[in-house]
Amino acid sequence: MKVVRTITECREVVAGFRQANETVGLVPTMGFLHAGHMELVATAKARTDRVAVTIFVNPSQFGDASDLDSYPRDEERDLAMLREAGVDLVLIPEVIDVYPEGDETIVETTRMANILHGEVRPGHFRGVTTVVARLFNFVQPDVACFGEKDYQQLQVIKRMTKDLAFPIDVIGVPIVREDDGLAMSSRNVRLGAEDREAALVLSRSLNAADALADKTIEGLREIIAHTINAEPRATLRGLDIVQAETLADLSGPLTSPAAVMLSAEFGGVLLLDQRVIAP
Ligand code: PAF
Repeated sequence: MKVVRTITECREVVAGFRQANETVGLVPTMGFLHAGHMELVATAKARTDRVAVTIFVNPSQFGDASDLDSYPRDEERDLAMLREAGVDLVLIPEVIDVYPEGDETIVETTRMANILHGEVRPGHFRGVTTVVARLFNFVQPDVACFGEKDYQQLQVIKRMTKDLAFPIDVIGVPIVREDDGLAMSSRNVRLGAEDREAALVLSRSLNAADALADKTIEGLREIIAHTINAEPRATLRGLDIVQAETLADLSGPLTSPAAVMLSAEFGGVLLLDQRVIAP
């Protein structure tokens, strides 16, 4: 596994793959890897000859400097996991190379970035698309894998890829869960034991919604909110039920797949969960 820290070295390694007529899959990450990331790597490996991973804690997607500073990092452990998984190339760029001095270019999906989670985290998705466009350009992969857990992020990146005609197949990879149903996340390590237990209410509420016989948007909303509000350690922060691809608002009987996007806080730790529910 090659570990490189500059865009030039990264391009040289990818050029070697291309000379051998090999396809390249990309998994962009912010490091502190867990099984969810390894599932993205496994998906890329199954689809392409070579897999590249980027590790970059992207400052432009954090609203709050303290969130950026407290973001967990463990490069040695990440590299051991990626080596074990058979990754071919890891790019760990410097901030100054991703955002060169005098940088003034942004990439933004103007509607999708500013609805739903984008409303409460202004500038977040602009930071994501700006960095992902740059990472796409550094690596120039054939395929790029992102988790369905960050559902809005996935749809925003798909839209950006289409609009900018990047010749890249963006693949959404289903959520990986712990045995008890908790969606895997780097943030789970910050949960105390009681909050860890309480957080199971997220997947439980989605199961209850999926099991409804006559599904309406209002009925889904009610059962999810009721289940979560019955857990005293949970504070429901976001519950959005939207058209699965465009993220447009829905109401009334469910006639096409809807994405349910949930966020709730447990002891100050914000957790996300998501499911696409069919009629
Ligand atoms: O999902 C993430 O880890 C980040 O938002 C991403 C896609 C790597 C961009 O920084």
